[in-house]
Amino acid sequence: MKVTASPRRYLMCRPTYFAVTYRINPWMDPTAPYDSALAVRQWESLRQTYLDLGHTVDEIDPLPGLPDMVFAANGATTVDGRVLGVQFRDAERADEAPAYASWFRERGFVVTMPKHTNEGEGDILLAGDVLLAGTGFRTSHASHAETQEVLRRPVITLQLVDPNYYHLDTALCVLDETNVAYLPSAFSPGSQAVLQQLFPHAVIADAQDAAVLGLNAVSDGRTVVLPVQATHLDAELRKAGYETVGVDVSELRKAGGGPKCCTLEVRS
Ligand code: ARG
Repeated sequence: MKVTASPRRYLMCRPTYFAVTYRINPWMDPTAPYDSALAVRQWESLRQTYLDLGHTVDEIDPLPGLPDMVFAANGATTVDGRVLGVQFRDAERADEAPAYASWFRERGFVVTMPKHTNEGEGDILLAGDVLLAGTGFRTSHASHAETQEVLRRPVITLQLVDPNYYHLDTALCVLDETNVAYLPSAFSPGSQAVLQQLFPHAVIADAQDAAVLGLNAVSDGRTVVLPVQATHLDAELRKAGYETVGVDVSELRKAGGGPKCCTLEVRS
């Protein structure tokens, strides 16, 4: 049974300039309508959900011309007060990297900027004492060694194979120190075997869960905040002993993001 929640510090970025103006993942359709005001309201209710759960939420100022900056998870990876900055694959998001690095530096963190492409907690997730690191679409394999060196935790490489689940946090959610939820088909056969070995009691998501970005969820060890549309995953999490809170961030899904994408954990 999962009973221990620990209060978290999250960094978020209000989607003031949210838009879908380019296509860097299969979810993005620049010709489809979206509602920026609704995106802001959905984001505000996600933020309020964290506050209601007793967490702290810091905000970074959104910058015009960076419509994906709302996806704070891609801004850095932090462990034990160490901060690894990011380097985006796509030019459209490049200017977010120094903005997030500055936010941390201004608050006294030492930030190491990477030599290799890595998209922060989109692809690098702390699971207990180790880091799970995705590669295949965005974060480069070369960056995994760099991540281990900078953040001083063992890094386990996971190969992503489905372009719809282009970041690790769209295919896997860390639930607590010892368990995760994931979509097996998003991973190569070898990585599926590694996940089975590491997490024999994992919560297994189905295709419908993943298709609403249900795995793009945020857990404090007890309560999992996940897209309200992921009803099967919600039931599986409850069966496994977790509390759940459903949130609707469907406007942000039009850019390929969910609750976790909007949330960067700051670990001092
Ligand atoms: N449009 C953004 C991109 O493709 C979405 C990022 C989602 N973030 C995440 N952590 N999965 O880069």
